[in-house]
Amino acid sequence: MIRIGIDYYPEQWDRALWEEDAVRMRALGAHVIRLGEFAWSRMEPKDGVFDFTWLDDAIEIISRQGMQVILGTPTNCAPLWLYQEHQDTIQWGRDGRPTDLGIRGHRCMVSPTFRQYAGRIVEEMSRRYAGRPEVFAWQLDNELENNHCTCPACRSAFRDWLREKYGTLDSLNRAWGNMVWSGEVSDWEQIQPLLAPECLPRWHNPACLLDYERFGADCTADYVRFQSGIIRRYDSQAVITTNACIPANMPDFHKEFAELDVAAYDDYPPVRLPEDAEELYSNAFVLDFVRGFKQKNFWILEQFAGHMGCWPPISPTPEPEMLSGYALQAVAHGADLLSFFRWRTACTGAEMFCHGILDHSNVPNRRLRELEELFRRLAQLPGLGDTTLRSPAAILYSADQEFALKNQTQSDGFAYWTQLRLFHEACVGLGVNVDVIREDAPLDNYQVVLVPTHLVTDPDLASRLEDFARRGGTVVITNRSGVQDKNGNCILGRELPTVFRDLCGCHVTEYDPIGPVKQTVNLTKGGTYQITSWCDLLELDTAQAWARYQGRFYSGVPAVAKNRFGEGTAYYVGTVGEKAMYRTLLIEAFRERGVPLLETLPQGVEVTTRSGEGGTYQFFFNNTVHGQNFQLQGERVHLRPLEMKIRTEKEVWV
Ligand code: GAL
Repeated sequence: MIRIGIDYYPEQWDRALWEEDAVRMRALGAHVIRLGEFAWSRMEPKDGVFDFTWLDDAIEIISRQGMQVILGTPTNCAPLWLYQEHQDTIQWGRDGRPTDLGIRGHRCMVSPTFRQYAGRIVEEMSRRYAGRPEVFAWQLDNELENNHCTCPACRSAFRDWLREKYGTLDSLNRAWGNMVWSGEVSDWEQIQPLLAPECLPRWHNPACLLDYERFGADCTADYVRFQSGIIRRYDSQAVITTNACIPANMPDFHKEFAELDVAAYDDYPPVRLPEDAEELYSNAFVLDFVRGFKQKNFWILEQFAGHMGCWPPISPTPEPEMLSGYALQAVAHGADLLSFFRWRTACTGAEMFCHGILDHSNVPNRRLRELEELFRRLAQLPGLGDTTLRSPAAILYSADQEFALKNQTQSDGFAYWTQLRLFHEACVGLGVNVDVIREDAPLDNYQVVLVPTHLVTDPDLASRLEDFARRGGTVVITNRSGVQDKNGNCILGRELPTVFRDLCGCHVTEYDPIGPVKQTVNLTKGGTYQITSWCDLLELDTAQAWARYQGRFYSGVPAVAKNRFGEGTAYYVGTVGEKAMYRTLLIEAFRERGVPLLETLPQGVEVTTRSGEGGTYQFFFNNTVHGQNFQLQGERVHLRPLEMKIRTEKEVWV
């Protein structure tokens, strides 16, 4: 079964409403209520003085209705008395100064004093609630980012991290190439992770920045380990997670969730869909990315339920079927629990215009009715929870690429996420399930492995990909791969794509970072596509040209190459094409591996399949605001704007 949850903040409402709210949430179909996050000042109004009576009441009221709770640790919002008493708990910004206290998220997750207080509140909660039948699961903190605090504790932790990694300053100087611009460090104290926005990242050594991000990722993972360790001491069976978002300071999610039982995500897809078919907007990539955190099904702890409006102006109201369409999109990509944000729109505080299921009026509305219908529909599909996605294709993701490419933009408009999503969108548009997995995950179960931009290279990956291809797999790898070594320094004396050259059977003689300019390639087998951003000028070793540039001084030079390697194949894509180019390439690659395809889906219709003990379910989501008609194996299918249709193994639409 797919569990339904609702996010509820009892501390924001009069006690008189709790009972009625619980009854109504249950009647709507909720199984779990997520609460507690952010309520530290209510749990510990004064240093060491705890009050859980209100939370006891709320949990009791909820469980009386037959629902359980997902209990949030409140550490994202430390009470103001803590900041006042212990200023060393406050996060410092990139400008090297303590953050102004205002709304939330100001705590430094590394500060020993903060750890002491956070540890104490988590311990108090665990002592009281861990192991109780009312508790379904725990959520740690809220939307954790990569630690980017620059307070004295973080600076010294960064230096300790470097000492541990490099041992001596000599070895650090060598690894970072610090002879450049007199950057040689002669005392650990000279290392400053101080990144004023106006000089980030131009004046910093990229090798240092890469380590700084890796350090940040370790801090975030350690914070999660620290909190979950406390809860587990009280209940070794506790199910613990945290709600991920995709922030500018992206953590290494694979490291972070390695400490936790289940991956979880806050799902706020775009409300305004673009008219331009070339724009990449599908939310589906992130959902597959989240499923990859633990390579299993995941939860949504905040599923959007109304027009957003927090600090920015209020967004347009969700179109009819948008709430249910996107909720089902999450299920289609592996969500087993959907907790909707939030029951009622807040009447107070910064998010009073960030709409929940109910409006301020508290009377049933269109959104509530849409969700009622959705929950009824899900209740009729009890087997769904015992299914998952089995994928013939995988996209390799690595946090190092995310970090390095953010710090060193390769060409105007060239972005790691775009590279990943171009391949992803082509897969869902062909009805092919695709996993997004970490670079060192096993490849044995896949037939096609997609490797967009592997800038910071691990030679071990090259040999694993060679093995995979040799045994009959297909690898697709793109430009800016094999450029840097593990330290983030360029590789000397080998033509690009360096360690991947044998596999790809070609090398780069020259490259042209063309930025937003549009150029053209011609496919060897016929057809023309627009390209942009980057042009690798390829020379073929053992490969054949799959596409060649048209125009400029490199007209006729190969842009995309295809190489037979052992029993398998490798493609090297030396440029960034329009969406249709990826579709054409993947149709060929999938066909060669015998992967079944749905080639009649119109643009914007996304198809995935969940299967397992609970049956087989094929999801057809119209992720556009236009109606769609298409032929499917002799049948005519119509999808309303944002409609999700589900087909079972008996080819019955449900
Ligand atoms: C999320 C956050 C919630 C709420 C929501 C709506 O990112 O976790 O607490 O702020 O956005 O803005």
